[in-house]
Amino acid sequence: MKTLIGNTPIIKLEKDEFNLYIKLEQYNLSGSVKDRAVNHILQKGILENKINSDTVIIESSSGNFAYSAALHCKYLGIKFIAVVDSNINTIMYEKLKSLCYDVIKITEKDETGGYLLNRIKMVKSLISQNENYFWTNQYANVNNYLAYSELTNEIIESVKDVDYIFVAVSTTGTIKGVSTIVKAINKNIKIIAVDIRGSMIFSTEKYSRNIPGIGASKESDFLELGDIDDFIILDEKEIIEGCQSLLAKGFFLGGSSGACYQAVIKYNELYPEKLGSKNIVFISPDGGGVYVNNIYK
Ligand SMILES: Cc1ncc(COP(=O)(O)O)c(C=O)c1O
Repeated sequence: MKTLIGNTPIIKLEKDEFNLYIKLEQYNLSGSVKDRAVNHILQKGILENKINSDTVIIESSSGNFAYSAALHCKYLGIKFIAVVDSNINTIMYEKLKSLCYDVIKITEKDETGGYLLNRIKMVKSLISQNENYFWTNQYANVNNYLAYSELTNEIIESVKDVDYIFVAVSTTGTIKGVSTIVKAINKNIKIIAVDIRGSMIFSTEKYSRNIPGIGASKESDFLELGDIDDFIILDEKEIIEGCQSLLAKGFFLGGSSGACYQAVIKYNELYPEKLGSKNIVFISPDGGGVYVNNIYK
């Protein structure tokens, strides 16, 4: 599986007002950046004898982690249970139903306007009743963020003199992993988090969220504010606008990619002196295909 993960393309957006590069993570095994985290977490679990042929893997996911874990578990010959929610893309839900031992959909929003807290409640209840269940726990397992060293090196090696890296956040595994390595190499490279209105990572404003993949109903277990240089919060309309702008340039990408693109534009409006002719990279976690029933409707 590992040979099908990583070394994803990074391309420069032509005819754009910025020197903007997109790291296209849809070219990983299951079509998203989550392959990196899933592969690392499962390999560590196996090495530490926490996973064997009788183990049932379980995880709460908005889609991408679950799809990657489902494929990995098929390859390993073990069972996988996905706990998802009503925001899941229809196509992703159908794919999971074909691959998983079980798919549990949470339909009740939590008090923050998302579903994560109720998904986690369900996982906790199931692991307390089943000794052979292993919770990958992407929100708190350090092997999530430790999985992103190769991604970071790929970016640093492909783009000379990177100034800014924009990263959409959910578990914050990607941004924590990237920022840890980047800052050890060059503290001047700015790391900007991109979040959605209603997410509890950087704000306490409760607001209903409908785009899967970006945002979380709780604070990060990994990220400290000192790890990043800034964050920017977008509403759903802005995210969809970002997706449509990318599509107009020939890039059919997921919600978080549109969020990152729009974040670059907004950031530049707020702080014009900061971006100018800088070299900017954003990580595109996934492609647009599974979003045809919501963002691209
Ligand atoms: C659609 C999407 N957005 C954002 C992210 C970043 O998430 P995290 O902070 O969990 O690494 C991911 C990770 O896979 C994703 O799939």
